Amino acid sequence: MCFHGVVLFLLCSKILLGEEKNPVFSWIKDGVTVTSLIVQDVVARSPERAIFVNYTEIGVTVDDKSLTQRFVTQNQNWRNEWGSRLYLLNNDRTNYETFDLRNKELSFDVDVSSLVCGLNGALYMIEMPKNGGAEGSAFGTGYCDAGGGGTDSEKLACTEIDLWEGNKEATHLASHSCSRTGQFSVGEGKYCAIGGCTMNPYRYDHSFYGYGSSYTVDTSKKFTVVTQFLTSASGNLNEIRRLYVQKGKVVSAPAISNGAMSYSSITDAFCEAAGVSNSPLQNVSNSLEMGHVLSFSLWASDDGAGMDWLNSGKNGRCPENSEAAKRTKLVKSNPGAHVTWSNLKVGAINSTFTRDGGDGSGSLLVRSSLSTLVCIFILLLTLFV
Ligand SMILES: *[C@@H]1O[C@H](CO)[C@@H](O)[C@H](O)[C@H]1NC(C)=O
Ligand SMILES: *[C@@H]1O[C@H](CO)[C@@H](O)[C@H](O)[C@H]1NC(C)=O
Ligand SMILES: *[C@@H]1O[C@H](CO)[C@@H](O)[C@H](O)[C@H]1NC(C)=O
Repeated sequence: MCFHGVVLFLLCSKILLGEEKNPVFSWIKDGVTVTSLIVQDVVARSPERAIFVNYTEIGVTVDDKSLTQRFVTQNQNWRNEWGSRLYLLNNDRTNYETFDLRNKELSFDVDVSSLVCGLNGALYMIEMPKNGGAEGSAFGTGYCDAGGGGTDSEKLACTEIDLWEGNKEATHLASHSCSRTGQFSVGEGKYCAIGGCTMNPYRYDHSFYGYGSSYTVDTSKKFTVVTQFLTSASGNLNEIRRLYVQKGKVVSAPAISNGAMSYSSITDAFCEAAGVSNSPLQNVSNSLEMGHVLSFSLWASDDGAGMDWLNSGKNGRCPENSEAAKRTKLVKSNPGAHVTWSNLKVGAINSTFTRDGGDGSGSLLVRSSLSTLVCIFILLLTLFV
């Protein structure tokens, strides 16, 4: 009893004094609230593999169900003075939260209103080792992606699903399959579909997505992004469907015509019509079954043309190969740039969004002040027991 009191005392003073090392982030899984920890990819930021991360300094703030990443960060000791890459860690810090979204959907609200051309706020799923590999998920290690983007000497590749890559001018949904599941070095002769099968609405409809009320999805305001992972009767992923919800209106991704066919979601038929035959959804399905890790990232390229695949030419209205889109320029010109993710939900198809746009966020204030009250109560108790 007394021991529990001491533990609770320590825990509560941590909460009240704001000493929590990893920010606590709440999300909803099948209707139930889950609290996870946010962990920064330490290897990506610090060659010294510094264990202590001051999340305020790297521009990361969490308020219950809402996570903000700032582009410009403060800490001079880190390798980078920009961006962050974060994962969801379980409460006992042993494993990342993993997601198998076959026959499920994932939704979140996003605010990209301050992300100009060249900035990329990304929320994606990768088949990272759930224990983080050698050093452990508590350190944010084990990164891999379809481009073999691991940051260490050994770059690791794995299947990647980009639920969201975007700024206020352009957005992109993509699946990148690999020739096998797990993580592997590209040198093994295995490969991933680096270009992947992508869906960017600008390619088909210039008025669908952009900043201002004339666009179907208006990026000057927050909106909800729903991604559905539909399966065949045997449970294999065969379609990735995108919906947007804004001002209580549900909007599907624009239909894409190719010859006599029309597509409004990612399927093998769509990918083939788009000229991508090497990214079969069956392979993505096999990888999802192993469990994917969620990655929240805000980044820019040091090359002015580095984000053209997302927002320029046929992909968007941003100028191509622009000097202003270089990371060093963006850091100076956009001190306030940030992305905010909130109301992350995973559940059965059609269960995580409503047509009236209600999301229960009105209870947020009440709940956080309640937990403070409970803590003060426990503190008082431990003083008297
Ligand atoms: C984190 O950094 C901020 C800004 O530099 C500082 O005010 C705060 O005390 C630091 N927090 C910890 C726990 O060191
Ligand atoms: C799909 O996965 C199988 C193994 O399950 C592999 O043999 C095949 O090469 C993969 N296809 C592609 C295009 O990666
Ligand atoms: C989800 O909603 C759509 C649109 O109303 C409907 O066509 C579809 O059948 C629903 N799917 C499930 C699994 O409920």
